[in-house]
Amino acid sequence: MQTLVKNIKQLVNVREENILLRKEQLAELPSIYNAWLFIDNGIIAEYGSMEHIPDAISKITHIIDATYKMILPTWCDSHTHLVFAAPREAEFVDKIKGLSYAEIAAKGGGILNSAAKLNAMSEDELYRLAKQRLNEVIRLGTGAIEIKSGYGLSVEGELKMLRVIKKLKEQSSIPIKSTFLGAHTYPSAFKENHQGYIDLIIDEMLPIIAKEKLADYIDVFCEYGFFSAEETKTICEAGMRYGLKPKIHANQLNLSGGVETGVALGALSVDHLETMDENTINTLATSNTIGTLLPTAAFFLRMAFQPARKLIDAGCAIALATDFNPGSSPSGNMNLMVAMSCIQMKMLPEEAINAATINGAFAMELQNEVGSITKGKKANLIITKPIPSIAYLPYSFGSNLIDEVLINGVSYSCL
Ligand code: NIG
Ligand code: FE
Repeated sequence: MQTLVKNIKQLVNVREENILLRKEQLAELPSIYNAWLFIDNGIIAEYGSMEHIPDAISKITHIIDATYKMILPTWCDSHTHLVFAAPREAEFVDKIKGLSYAEIAAKGGGILNSAAKLNAMSEDELYRLAKQRLNEVIRLGTGAIEIKSGYGLSVEGELKMLRVIKKLKEQSSIPIKSTFLGAHTYPSAFKENHQGYIDLIIDEMLPIIAKEKLADYIDVFCEYGFFSAEETKTICEAGMRYGLKPKIHANQLNLSGGVETGVALGALSVDHLETMDENTINTLATSNTIGTLLPTAAFFLRMAFQPARKLIDAGCAIALATDFNPGSSPSGNMNLMVAMSCIQMKMLPEEAINAATINGAFAMELQNEVGSITKGKKANLIITKPIPSIAYLPYSFGSNLIDEVLINGVSYSCL
């Protein structure tokens, strides 16, 4: 099918080449005003200014009129835990009432309780719920996503989660990357035997995951009380022997050594980064590892936000993602997350949009498919409602400003 989108008020993030953006580059959002865009067979084929629309293009009969509207590449959400068995809103209310972590865990909160529910659920039901959530975030403008395991914490549970993600990959129209997070926490049976669980991950889970091609990346929750920097290194190296690149949870609650370990391993990304000092910022800035910030997790846990300005000014390559999960970020809404990045972390709207599109694509190694308006990339596009400017998107937080989402050039509501 061929589609011409015409009279686009602003065609946003138009790039000829893929560059992971840092520093001042992150604040540049190349655009064409009063633009047209030609979609051929689901792919961005050509674009330009309405003043110079070629005759052949103007004759295309399937037309979307985008008068007063803007077009952006869809969001690239490079860190989610979208596969889970049940939400945890009772835990949320208990936290408001001031219950302690132990009291909450005893009442059915926390990662271990998510794991118990997931292990008890059938693969089909888990898939059905995950597919619903995926459809919801696509309608909110997400056009590529990474999804982690980590609520199984048993051989069967982790494999079940990864098989659900594999099925989502096969059945969904957007690109999906899969990450093995067996090292999310220690299951109760291994509370006093950490090495035993690490052995289970390395000797039992990883060989099957590799054989069945169930994951693209390996993740570890590198944090005091969870996995140490040394354990993180051991687990990531085991994954790397099977071709899984590390993408790790680092420096959420403490200076855990996660950033240094990730950088030394050549990790694709280190994610969270609420707790950073000058040394860790410099280590990240002088590396090729992307720093993925998850502001909605900091918001939901009432923690200090990630030091985005310091990271950007130091030269770190920053991506933004939702961390969609039932415990610390029960929202996969990239629009809200972008607004929060501007409001709370003082990122410019241009910086936040770049970090949530092209840099997010890099954080999933999908930069040749999505993340910008570039010839040859997928026509995964957000068509906004009529809006006055790009800054209006984060400014008017909470409003639904998306008119339509196109995936492979087709309206998502039609799929
Ligand atoms: O990314 N930090 C660790 N894991 C999740 C939250 C886990 C949960 O509470 O379910 C996160 O924030
Ligand atoms: Fe996470």
